[in-house]
Amino acid sequence: MAPSFTMFSLHQFALALLLFPPIALADPIHLPLARRSSGNRDIDYYISAAKHLQGKYNITGKSYSPRGKRGTSASIQTINQQTDSSYLGSVSIGTPPQSFNVVLDTGSSDLWVADTSCTSCDSTTPLFAPSKSSSITSANGQTTIRYGSGTVAGIIAQDVVSMGNFSVQSQTLLAVEELTDGLLEGSASGIMGLAFSAIASTRSTPFWQALGSQLSASEMAFYLTRFKDDSNAKDEEPGGVFTLGGTNSSLFTGDIEFLNMPSGTPTFWLLTMSAITVQGQSVQITTGNAALAAIDTGTTLIGGPTADVNAIWAAVPGSAAVVDQEGFFSFPCSTSVSVTLSFGGKAWPISTTDMNLGQISRGSSQCLGAIFDLSLGSNIPSGSGNPSWVVGDTFLKNVYSVYRAGNPGSVGFAQLSSVAGGSGTPSGNGSSTTTTGSNGGSSARITWPAMMATAMIAVFMCLL
Ligand SMILES: *[C@@H]1O[C@H](CO)[C@@H](O)[C@H](O)[C@H]1NC(C)=O
Ligand SMILES: *[C@@H]1O[C@H](CO)[C@@H](O)[C@H](O)[C@H]1NC(C)=O
Ligand SMILES: *[C@@H]1O[C@H](CO)[C@@H](O)[C@H](O)[C@H]1NC(C)=O
Ligand SMILES: *[C@@H]1O[C@H](CO)[C@@H](O)[C@H](O)[C@H]1NC(C)=O
Repeated sequence: MAPSFTMFSLHQFALALLLFPPIALADPIHLPLARRSSGNRDIDYYISAAKHLQGKYNITGKSYSPRGKRGTSASIQTINQQTDSSYLGSVSIGTPPQSFNVVLDTGSSDLWVADTSCTSCDSTTPLFAPSKSSSITSANGQTTIRYGSGTVAGIIAQDVVSMGNFSVQSQTLLAVEELTDGLLEGSASGIMGLAFSAIASTRSTPFWQALGSQLSASEMAFYLTRFKDDSNAKDEEPGGVFTLGGTNSSLFTGDIEFLNMPSGTPTFWLLTMSAITVQGQSVQITTGNAALAAIDTGTTLIGGPTADVNAIWAAVPGSAAVVDQEGFFSFPCSTSVSVTLSFGGKAWPISTTDMNLGQISRGSSQCLGAIFDLSLGSNIPSGSGNPSWVVGDTFLKNVYSVYRAGNPGSVGFAQLSSVAGGSGTPSGNGSSTTTTGSNGGSSARITWPAMMATAMIAVFMCLL
């Protein structure tokens, strides 16, 4: 146990936990609730996680057939894990149903849960017991899903899967028997991919698409909570609301600005980064086809291409590349970094709290910034449909985000309502604004059992 530490270092630690939940780096260690502060190892974590993000976004795939009209929507309560690092929802699998918490990830398309034959799983991870499900089928297919350094391998199976009262009778999932040590944390047992089938390693239709006409709209929406400014935050806290099949009008105010995804076979939820301001000044960035951005609830921070990330930090007085940590930048902790992002319309502000990941090392007057160089001078080919930006929870906590399938699909952002802790007002012309309403029909709400504050949390990075 470390001695006392500052709030900044606490935040740094908490935020440093995860870049994106599916990926474990270095050897994980397991810590009780008390947290340790640490120095550059945190940054190592971010760096290697950033590299692995490239792997996550180097997937290509097949086709997609949109489905589904008429039905209902459900607002599902989620869990905020490790101070805004990932957001979990509950899913039931099998007959009788076995319930698990899974990371809700708009940046991938497979559903997997660790199963009882998983030897590399943590002893505290809740495991799916295929043998206890009378409805499971399997053709003995096996596959591996790579999330960077985090790899999972298992058996492809079909079983009843339900979330928020919605069920798919024969949903393909991966019953994971082997995974990278430390891949799962706390109460999480797997990942629910919420992007498109084209990038599914299991070559199957993702749950949300398989729901088809059960949903009133082929649409999902997130309000994600922020605990970054709460030094008493536990490892698992209320995470906000995931609405499946529509939007929840109590969680946003004003119009939802929907922006079309690029045409072609959908893969990730993609928009084009069109403008960025830093400290009120606009920053010169690459635009057009080379500026695709994946909108990804499963990624903690924001990664972007080298030149643009350099330009962002160049606009912050006193900023500096972090020594020996390529791709990351620090800035004076006394500076409030104000950034807005636009994807063709309004400029959406990111709170200064979210931009600051805490001191780069204990006692330092420099703090780590939440936007990093995703390309790290390397290999994401631009213009090939691969995103050059990955816009994660650092941004998404600041808006109500809506993911709408269609031809083309679109991603929408709206201002959070006061119910959802909203405050940030978008600026700009809002020319591409459209409105939506739809809560369609009745809804279901999952009430979480009291979270186990005593759970041992496997920390994704090596601290000491
Ligand atoms: C990334 O994609 C390219 C082009 O599709 C492919 O040649 C390469 O092998 C991929 N790399 C990885 C790590 O999958
Ligand atoms: C919308 O979200 C609020 C807050 O979680 C919840 O109380 C309400 O039931 C939801 N409404 C619908 C229609 O699901
Ligand atoms: C609104 O913003 C968009 C994107 O920033 C820009 O292309 C457009 O010209 C603006 N429209 C007006 C009326 O200012
Ligand atoms: C969801 O399940 C609850 C409890 O079983 C039920 O009361 C509610 O009517 C269901 N909602 C829908 C939309 O089926």
